Amino acid sequence: MIRVENLIYRYETGSPDCLRGVTLDIAEGFHTALIGPNGSGKTTLIKHLNALLFPDAGTVCVDGMMSTDTSSIREIRRRVGMVFQNPESQIVGMTVEEDVAFGPENLALSSAEIRRRVDACLAMVGMTGFEKRAPHTLSGGEKRLLSIAGVVAMDPRYIVFDEPTAYLDPAAKQRVLAIIRRLNREGMAIIHIAHDMGDVAEADRVVVIDRGQVLLTGTPAEVFGEAERLTAIGLNALPERDGR
Ligand SMILES: Nc1ncnc2c1ncn2[C@@H]1O[C@H](COP(=O)(O)OP(=O)(O)O)[C@@H](O)[C@H]1O
Ligand SMILES: [Mg+2]
Repeated sequence: MIRVENLIYRYETGSPDCLRGVTLDIAEGFHTALIGPNGSGKTTLIKHLNALLFPDAGTVCVDGMMSTDTSSIREIRRRVGMVFQNPESQIVGMTVEEDVAFGPENLALSSAEIRRRVDACLAMVGMTGFEKRAPHTLSGGEKRLLSIAGVVAMDPRYIVFDEPTAYLDPAAKQRVLAIIRRLNREGMAIIHIAHDMGDVAEADRVVVIDRGQVLLTGTPAEVFGEAERLTAIGLNALPERDGR
């Protein structure tokens, strides 16, 4: 489980605290959705979950390992996979297969195991046959799928998706949501930052972030039931429709 306790964080810009005492548990195997207005601190929060950022105060603990313990950072980063908002920022290979192999290659696995993971993860996202393609020739949706394959190839226990359906057309969006659902069914814990409320209806738990704090948490039904509090921070209580 990931435990975030009283996390306080401020960027080095003299601006006010970005995270103002966030406490949150993320259970293994669960699908947790994070929602909140733009600028509320969602991306900053999730960067703490795999030791890309470190708390100014408070703690982040992943399966018993403190993120500030330098001897644990490597293992924390392996356990907590990150699918960033912009897939371009994650592409490192000259070909699709090289790109997916990049993570596993850093885990000192056999070449047969790396091959097996590359094939399995490309199949999982529906990209078998794309092995030799150059990533920059892919569509936005395909780049997104590639970034997911690369993260899953590390065999993480938790995967964080930061607005994974942003900028995708409705069909590509449904594909990504189906993959998230399937990974969760297979036992992976999902932390899903969602913009569209319709995307979080299947989560086990929804956490609403506002101005660097947890405003509400509950099942989707409980959170959607708080229509007034959601509207007050500019979120629609009702799922939005594609193509709006
Ligand atoms: N690298 C950065 N340097 C300084 N301020 C930042 C940086 N990244 C984000 N912020 C600020 O921190 C706040 C929270 O941002 P962010 O975590 O990206 O929110 P969200 O993901 O919820 O939109 C915003 O006010 C944003 O401007
Ligand atoms: Mg963000």
